[in-house]
Amino acid sequence: MKIIGTGSAHPKQVVTNEMLSTFLDTNDEWIKTRTGIQERRVISSERLEDLALEAMERALQSTKLTARDIDFIICSNVVNEYITPGLGCVLQGMLGATCPTIDVNGACAGFIYALDIADAFFKSGRVKNVLVVAAEEPSRMMDWTDRSTCVLFGDGAGAVVLTEGDNFESFSLTNTSMPEALYQRHKLQYTPYVDKDEPDHAVIMNGQDVFKMAVRGSIRDLNRVMQKANVTPDQVDHYLLHQANIRIIDTIREYMKQGWDKFPHFIEKYGNTSSSSIPMLLDEMAREGKIKDGDRIAMSAFGAGFTTAACLLKWTEIKYEE
Ligand code: COA
Repeated sequence: MKIIGTGSAHPKQVVTNEMLSTFLDTNDEWIKTRTGIQERRVISSERLEDLALEAMERALQSTKLTARDIDFIICSNVVNEYITPGLGCVLQGMLGATCPTIDVNGACAGFIYALDIADAFFKSGRVKNVLVVAAEEPSRMMDWTDRSTCVLFGDGAGAVVLTEGDNFESFSLTNTSMPEALYQRHKLQYTPYVDKDEPDHAVIMNGQDVFKMAVRGSIRDLNRVMQKANVTPDQVDHYLLHQANIRIIDTIREYMKQGWDKFPHFIEKYGNTSSSSIPMLLDEMAREGKIKDGDRIAMSAFGAGFTTAACLLKWTEIKYEE
């Protein structure tokens, strides 16, 4: 398969570190030096599905396809206002598509999980065009009195349109079951029969464990996808890493012995937008002409699970109208 369209959208509400320090015991200096984040976008009056729709429509605009040409929609999402139906079902109707949809909850690695599923559908000959959309509002999962988590995240959506081609060179997915490192739990509806204790709380995270697992997992996955494709770190032009912490990105960059020019980042302005971060970054770079025809891209992400995923692909330039 190959990517023929990209799109992204983010909420209008900007929340700076200074704004957080008015109600949390934190400050711009701490957040900037520990994470790289200066501000993030947070959902206010928008609905997540509107952001997702904008990202999908923008991705379609850069192709010659219409919504009816899409054979499958794969939606990467952790939470939204619906428990059921899946967010992909809601988005399919809004877009005017007629194909089946499936939701993937691979946490922050979900976009690459979704790409891998799309790849399998292409290889089995069941689809000609697939739309992958990642739409996330982690801000709705946080305890906004907990300075150790809520400062890290932001909301947004990113999408890609895929068609038949051979640009993707390799994938690697893993899950190491470790829910205690990063999780949120909520109470289900009452029944007269439930008599067990059911926790109900916002995100709980062991930041230092997650940091170490992220670095180890990403390096392992990147080595795997490069080995599979017989590629060295020098032969990768752009490392699009999950935007969780600039220090995580820097540690991986140093291990790969590559310059910052190969490690684009926009965590400064968006924070960690979960699985939306890589497609949002890809869209921004592609529209700014920063990815050239034939460039090789490595993507790598990690998140609650503990899930990690990476892939390697060659870029075919997209002509954007605007
Ligand atoms: N502002 C000010 N101080 C803060 C703070 C904040 N927002 N959050 C935590 N602190 C304090 C802690 O309470 C602690 O204080 P203490 O020493 O008095 O106990 C101190 O800062 C150091 O905390 P620590 O957790 O050791 O900091 P750290 O250097 O590990 O950085 C993270 C914390 C969360 C930024 C870092 O561990 C991280 O990024 N981990 C990965 C998280 C991640 O990427 N999650 C998403 C995965 S998809």
